[in-house]
Amino acid sequence: AFHKPAEPLKLASNGPFGKFDRQQLQRGYQVYKEVCAACHSMHLLSFRNLTEIGYSEAQVKAEAASWTVPGIDPNTGEANTRPGIPTDRFPSPYPNETAARAANNNANPPDLSLITKARPHGPEYLHSLLTGYQEQPAELLEKFPEAKTGVGLYYNPYFANLNIAMPPPLSTDGQVTYADGTEATINQMSTDVTAFLVWTAEPTLEKRNQTGWPVLGFLIFATVLAWFAKKQVWADLK
Ligand code: HEM
Repeated sequence: AFHKPAEPLKLASNGPFGKFDRQQLQRGYQVYKEVCAACHSMHLLSFRNLTEIGYSEAQVKAEAASWTVPGIDPNTGEANTRPGIPTDRFPSPYPNETAARAANNNANPPDLSLITKARPHGPEYLHSLLTGYQEQPAELLEKFPEAKTGVGLYYNPYFANLNIAMPPPLSTDGQVTYADGTEATINQMSTDVTAFLVWTAEPTLEKRNQTGWPVLGFLIFATVLAWFAKKQVWADLK
């Protein structure tokens, strides 16, 4: 039987009436910051974008300053690091891809800005991947001995080649302590970070959904109008 995640993913942003749950996005941001950012970047987002999920400008300033970003020494021109400012992008923890691969068994942790759009069924895939780590089934090994999970790899039935270089990032309940008191089960943290990465990939989702309804209304109105206009124009020829 195909492995199913512990609990199916239900997000407030799903469907044509979908809206972001900003409190959940803030929890997801916390998971991103405290867990994922140890290996992944999010280069299409700046710290100042956090105002869109309910942080004040002062909070964003403080938040940005809590990150370390690559900088340049103004005196020597040499690369160094400095605290972030709101216009900085979410940085990679590694100076370059070679360093990233050296730290991750030769795999490159992808930028997560658009990850929920970059994979088919992105949100469900992400949630399944994060909660789907398990022991490699013996019957699989018997049939496909060459699929044996190698050293430094982890078996995950949702990853395309079954063995992923990412260690299970969410491995214990209570791995983060949520500011809003929500219980941080693995399922909860995975759902929250997925909700957050749905937002990063399409921050204008609510606007798109809300624009659709007046557009549909206008199309129905215009269709009715065209129907009566046609009837009137051709009335003599019946
Ligand atoms: C790959 C998400 C934390 C290292 C990935 C992928 C996703 C992802 C979606 C791409 C899988 C694919 O290609 O389809 C996350 C999330 C995290 C997290 C949401 C936090 C909850 C981490 C951490 C590390 C890490 C902490 C390092 C210790 C990697 C590596 C890959 C990867 C090395 C490439 C795997 C491969 O190609 O075999 N991650 N990740 N990730 N991640 Fe993470």
